[in-house]
Amino acid sequence: FEAPRLAGRRVLVTAGPTREPVDPVRYITNRSSGRMGHAVAAAAALAGARVTLVSGPVTLEAPAGVERLMVETAAQMQETVMAHLPGADIFIATAAVADYRVAQPAQQKIKKQGDTLDLQLVKNPDILALVAASGDRPFSVGFAAETDSLEEHARAKLENKRLDMIAANDVSGGQGFDVDDNALRVFWRDGDCSLPRQSKVTLARALVQVIADRFQMARGQ
Ligand code: C5P
Repeated sequence: FEAPRLAGRRVLVTAGPTREPVDPVRYITNRSSGRMGHAVAAAAALAGARVTLVSGPVTLEAPAGVERLMVETAAQMQETVMAHLPGADIFIATAAVADYRVAQPAQQKIKKQGDTLDLQLVKNPDILALVAASGDRPFSVGFAAETDSLEEHARAKLENKRLDMIAANDVSGGQGFDVDDNALRVFWRDGDCSLPRQSKVTLARALVQVIADRFQMARGQ
């Protein structure tokens, strides 16, 4: 009998899109379904970890045995992640955080007006980069969706955000977003591996095993 790989570990996962308000009835979002993040959270729980999943708006149920906290905006996701960071051993960022938010959401519904309407957008904080730069940082894993030069772009993110690992999917063929199947290439400083196309549920289990391997190596266990 082998003890579950992540027994006694705390894992924090982000998932889903974020929803950035334009006015009280409108928002900007993206096509992320949250399926990969929910599958990763479920797989980490199956591996014995205590898992907190911070999710943007999704239609999925919370995975069994996972504490799920629902948020809407990137700012709320950041706040919730930071509040749960102390004691986390591993952080896995699968959320498709909106890169920008509306600078000043209107307090009242915006009325139909001229033929064009300008919205000023401002950059959202990079939650993953902030976590990876924090003191006593957890083992930090990012995701990247790329349409070209997958390894080059993924490795650049690994470096720039100071991650321990990055999982990249090729979205050029429509694969990855809002679908059930996915394939990943996983990179770390001195290695990489490929996880072939399969359901997000089994893919997430394979990914969590790779993360557990590298986490144990990094911690010298
Ligand atoms: O730079 P890019 O957005 O491609 O990086 C994607 C990775 O960074 C994902 O792991 C995503 O969850 C994370 N991210 C984040 N906060 C942002 C943007 C991206 O945590 N504002």
